[in-house]
Amino acid sequence: MNPPEATRLWTSLPIPAFIIGDDDTIIEVNPAGEAFVNVSARVLRAAPAFDRLVIDADMPDACTRVRRNQAPLFLNDAQVGTGERAPVMCNIQVAPLADDPGRLLMLITPREIAGRLGQANSVASAAKAAIGMSAMLAHEIKNPLAGITGAAQLLSMSLDKDGRELTDLIVEESRRVVKLLEQVEQFGNLRPPDLKPVNIHDVLDRARRSAVVGFAAHMTILEDYDPSLPPALVDRDQLLQVVQNLLKNASEAAGDAGGTIRLRSFYDLSLRMRGRALPLQIEIIDDGPGLPSAIAGDVFEPFVSGRENGTGLGLALVSKIISEHDGWVAVDSVPGRTAFRISLPVATTLKEAP
Ligand SMILES: Nc1ncnc2c1ncn2[C@@H]1O[C@H](COP(=O)(O)OP(=O)(O)OP(=O)(O)O)[C@@H](O)[C@H]1O
Ligand SMILES: [Mg+2]
Repeated sequence: MNPPEATRLWTSLPIPAFIIGDDDTIIEVNPAGEAFVNVSARVLRAAPAFDRLVIDADMPDACTRVRRNQAPLFLNDAQVGTGERAPVMCNIQVAPLADDPGRLLMLITPREIAGRLGQANSVASAAKAAIGMSAMLAHEIKNPLAGITGAAQLLSMSLDKDGRELTDLIVEESRRVVKLLEQVEQFGNLRPPDLKPVNIHDVLDRARRSAVVGFAAHMTILEDYDPSLPPALVDRDQLLQVVQNLLKNASEAAGDAGGTIRLRSFYDLSLRMRGRALPLQIEIIDDGPGLPSAIAGDVFEPFVSGRENGTGLGLALVSKIISEHDGWVAVDSVPGRTAFRISLPVATTLKEAP
């Protein structure tokens, strides 16, 4: 694309677009962006971006992450106001600008436009549709598979040793397929969270105890909790599933040599999503090799795996559960330090469940 074409594209893009400098000021804005903020580009240039755009998410933090990871970040359902006008629901995309690591491209798609262009949550909904299909297929495949396994077991009775080795292989591999199908089914059938006030340290502790006697036997798990944290409003079993998945991934990434995982909890009042505070923070930090760079931007998508026998459903499930809690999950990863952070709402009005 030559420069005039690039300029034409920038000018005619019907979505508000901003180029943000490394100090979070606006460097450039397209006409759709000017119309969105209702201020001219001349006035907007050099203005602090998040004074002009009032967004109910921690945008400076999001921008820092994009710069650090050099990977795009998507924020769905954020309220974006401009100071004068009432906030509108938008999807926001922030991406590093090619050849200029400090600068970012930010696209703000009002949900109304997103719907019209048919691109609202397009990735997520495509993935959801695929999951729905897969869950149905999984169910259908399990029955004939049980038949195959049974037939192989019967056959093995009339075979010699070599023959039995082959039927054993059929049975073993079929079990592996059944396990995979069960995971897909579980993903498709996730029920809505049963929200109750829950002490997150109980959940972290339970996850830690079951991990160290199982898949994390080769790991050292350290706890670093803020004991004064109030209860979170969550589904206890689903939060446990989330923490277990993250502990399992960290343990698998460490390999046989093992490593250290730090479970951390703390309070951070600055994080807000959709107008709601998410002050409870859980971090699961490991000292393993870090996310493989080829998939680092997509690890929360279903079926994305960097492991030989991985199904790629662990983090997709984590993301689905946390988003159904109106929470937020993010990852920061470099070799030697991978931190998954979960941000959750506080249970304010209710008493803690027994
Ligand atoms: N703590 C971590 N350190 C390094 N890489 C990680 C870490 N957590 C996740 N990953 C990478 O992200 C990929 C996706 O993780 P996810 O849990 O979604 O799937 P999986 O572990 O491959 O399969 P499954 O969890 O379904 O058995 C992993 O395969 C791995 O490559
Ligand atoms: Mg996993």
